[in-house]
Amino acid sequence: MNVLVVGGAGYIGSHMCLCLATAGHRVVALDNLSTGHREAVQWGELVVASLDETSVVAETLRRHEIDVVMHFAACSLVGESMQDPYRYYQNNVSSTLSLLMAMRDAGVAQFIFSSTAAIFGDPQSDQIEENHPRQPINPYGNSKLAVEMLLQDAAQAYGLRATTLRYFNAAGADPQGRIGESHTPETHLIPRLLRRAAGEDLSVQIFGTDYPTRDGSCVRDYIHVNDLAVAHLNAMEHGRSQPGFHCFNLGNGIGHSVLEVVKAAERAVGVPLDIPFGPRRAGDPATLVASSRKAREILDWTPRHDSIDRIVADAWNWHRRPAF
Ligand SMILES: NC(=O)c1ccc[n+]([C@@H]2O[C@H](COP(=O)([O-])OP(=O)(O)OC[C@H]3O[C@@H](n4cnc5c(N)ncnc54)[C@H](O)[C@@H]3O)[C@@H](O)[C@H]2O)c1
Repeated sequence: MNVLVVGGAGYIGSHMCLCLATAGHRVVALDNLSTGHREAVQWGELVVASLDETSVVAETLRRHEIDVVMHFAACSLVGESMQDPYRYYQNNVSSTLSLLMAMRDAGVAQFIFSSTAAIFGDPQSDQIEENHPRQPINPYGNSKLAVEMLLQDAAQAYGLRATTLRYFNAAGADPQGRIGESHTPETHLIPRLLRRAAGEDLSVQIFGTDYPTRDGSCVRDYIHVNDLAVAHLNAMEHGRSQPGFHCFNLGNGIGHSVLEVVKAAERAVGVPLDIPFGPRRAGDPATLVASSRKAREILDWTPRHDSIDRIVADAWNWHRRPAF
């Protein structure tokens, strides 16, 4: 297949390019490098463009005879989305709409979308199933939900084959250390811990020690970025034979507490990290874990790198010598 990876210079998109190329597909990345890295695109051609450059997008779809678009490009900082919602509706919703219209004009009929746990809002159960109410509590989550609704309508009206994959916390890196996670600012726990361990002046705290969890710290679902990429590959296969709109939650189904992640980071790095405890943060649920039962059953997908030690060790392999 000829696959366009929009946001292919970003963290998850670049691992997707690697996974697609390894599986024998032809891959083209389109990215405006706003948060991505040119050096991360090592598999396939890079088209440097923004999604709102509609003529470049249309030309890319046609010239490369694209069969499937995987869409990773977005603004994805919850706090920033509260300060500047227009930016989120513009980049996440409006740009996606122009991409979908260009696809329709070019006759590209399959789309796979990076959605998020943030579409669910406050969790009403410990394991989030696909039919959990979608009630986002910030503009980032709203913007992703708006695209999901757009995709449902497009599947109905234009026959778009659309799959939305909701990730919880992507983590880890290419085990060979060629690419990895490099965000500025970095808001995720594992890279913050590891960048601090590598000598960066980054503050890290354990927010809250009195949650109703096994050790009092929050529990989250960390999934290896390579497992995420394989889920997209399987979703692409599934969407070829099953038209319509599909949604899957992707997590490894095993929650890890913040304290457990800190301990895994200490094991990977080999020294104590002395992470201080702080008060709870407003809006943090105690537990947020995906049920990936549907993806396991229908996409025949099993996370292979599900131990937190493996995830953190691969991330550390990158962070101790990041190439970008
Ligand atoms: N990282 C996570 O844990 C996580 C969790 C849930 C959902 N997601 C979603 O997964 C996707 C990828 O996340 P990531 O962590 O790899 O982010 P990232 O910032 O590393 O990658 C996004 C890429 O998209 C590019 N981009 C942004 N806007 C663009 C535009 N208008 N035109 C062209 N390129 C553009 C950026 O330059 C960047 O390379 C995002 O949609 C994000 O919302 C990520």
